Amino acid sequence: MIFLCKVSDVPAGRSKRIARGRKPAVAVFDVDGTFHATADQCTHGTALLSRGKVTAGRIVCPLHSGSFDLLSGAPVDLPCDEPLAVYRVEVRDAGIYADVPD
Ligand code: FES
Repeated sequence: MIFLCKVSDVPAGRSKRIARGRKPAVAVFDVDGTFHATADQCTHGTALLSRGKVTAGRIVCPLHSGSFDLLSGAPVDLPCDEPLAVYRVEVRDAGIYADVPD
């Protein structure tokens, strides 16, 4: 598990991009007080999903409005047709951690 950010770093009901230098960035979403972490880059293009919206259990890409299932990362709406990496999240000591491969 890697440390992503503090709970207080993610605005309530919103998302945050976690830059990781040369490693792929991670998007953290606060959905009704539960945190989710995914790859930040959409599998369809170069859009950042941390700038998208979560609605009805789907992450909606801000560029072409494709979407992914929040829990599984499975593509839901075209043009997304490749799954999105989703990471198991733990919250401890007011920090958000996730199983992001190194
Ligand atoms: S870049 Fe995300 S749907 Fe096209």
